[in-house]
Amino acid sequence: MPLDLSSIRSQFPALAHPAIFFDNPGGTQISKQSLDRVNGYLIESNANHEGAFATSIASDAILDEAHRAMADFYNAASPEEIVFGNNMTTLTLHTSRSISREWKEGDEIVVTRLDHDANVTPWALAAQDRGVKVNWVDFDVEDGTLKLDDLQKALERKPRLLAVGYASNSLGTINPVARIVKMAREAGALVYIDAVQYAPHGPIDVQKLDCDFLVSSAYKFFGTHVGILYGKREWLEKLFAYKVRPATNQIPGKFETGTQNHEGIAGVLGAIEYFEWVGKEFGGSTVEGLAERGYQGRQMELKKAMTAIRAYEFELGRALLSALESVPGLRLYGLTDVRRLDERVATFSFRLKDLHPRAVAEKLAQEGIYVWDGNYYAINVTERLGLEESGGMVRVGAAHYNTLEEVERLKEALVKIAA
Ligand SMILES: Cc1ncc(COP(=O)(O)O)c(C=O)c1O
Repeated sequence: MPLDLSSIRSQFPALAHPAIFFDNPGGTQISKQSLDRVNGYLIESNANHEGAFATSIASDAILDEAHRAMADFYNAASPEEIVFGNNMTTLTLHTSRSISREWKEGDEIVVTRLDHDANVTPWALAAQDRGVKVNWVDFDVEDGTLKLDDLQKALERKPRLLAVGYASNSLGTINPVARIVKMAREAGALVYIDAVQYAPHGPIDVQKLDCDFLVSSAYKFFGTHVGILYGKREWLEKLFAYKVRPATNQIPGKFETGTQNHEGIAGVLGAIEYFEWVGKEFGGSTVEGLAERGYQGRQMELKKAMTAIRAYEFELGRALLSALESVPGLRLYGLTDVRRLDERVATFSFRLKDLHPRAVAEKLAQEGIYVWDGNYYAINVTERLGLEESGGMVRVGAAHYNTLEEVERLKEALVKIAA
């Protein structure tokens, strides 16, 4: 095992609670590094921007460091390419307004049925405002993978934008984003990637991907309720920002409207410091090849951490798949081929016999196992699978602090419920 779980779990004060947290795709527990940053910020440097006095200067220093930390996490070329905001949804609604100002009537854009609605409806609303057509890319209902032939066809129509997820928060599929960005580039479309579901599970490199935008949320990766958008410098500089007059015209500030959630942003810095700790403690065996790819310092530690986490979660995913498949009457949706585990994260959605998903989630909660049920806002997925009207699915989503023993307890509880 690449991670020492007792050491990992000791970094999460909330894990002292006896519950088993498999609700992670809806939000993870907070690391102590993140919590300490929130407390530290509020006690030592709670102030507004650009004042002449010590707490304001200290506050700005922390916000700057948080931009640098997130640039390292995404491997962005500079901290100015990092925009903080309330959450992914609000950032996307905000940015879509700026991006769509460039669209003309008759233009087209592309969204997918596999995406969370936060990477669909903001674009559909912007398209409505601008008289732009929205084309949809479907997914294969058998294995939960995006239909790349559909995508290719949609791209042949030379759309202005492709909005696509890195990984599905419903079925767990990891999209082949590098290939998808290349396809979109060749068609001349901007690419906006929703990495909310993927960010806690594996390494991200926006420069290598060559995407235009990528967004995630820190409360899904062991930090605070803050969204973090990467935008390529040329776009952030060029795009019109909806902002008030006294606010800066410089990036990233022109998109960071109003007074930000400073303590939350300090908490994002803490989440990155947590990953840095994971990289230093457990990343040793994964270091090969990273230096050659140009990673150094904190960037390197973060890539080591995410590679170690991915490797551990691969084993957790294998155990979860086998546990769920052994439960009588359980039907899994999405990729279930154990040879294709590298194409998914350990987020599994299922139905159990003819039980309503809420009833299953309630019974699991009674056993101290926390899971989500419904559509988790990936409403096109449940609609496409014909499950929306009957309560959606039950979702079990592992994070790297979950253990194989917890998987075993989940299995026992599900077998009991099925009986
Ligand atoms: C894949 C995905 N995208 C977007 C979102 C929305 O994120 P936020 O809550 O930060 O707006 C979520 C949250 O569940 C998600 O899982």
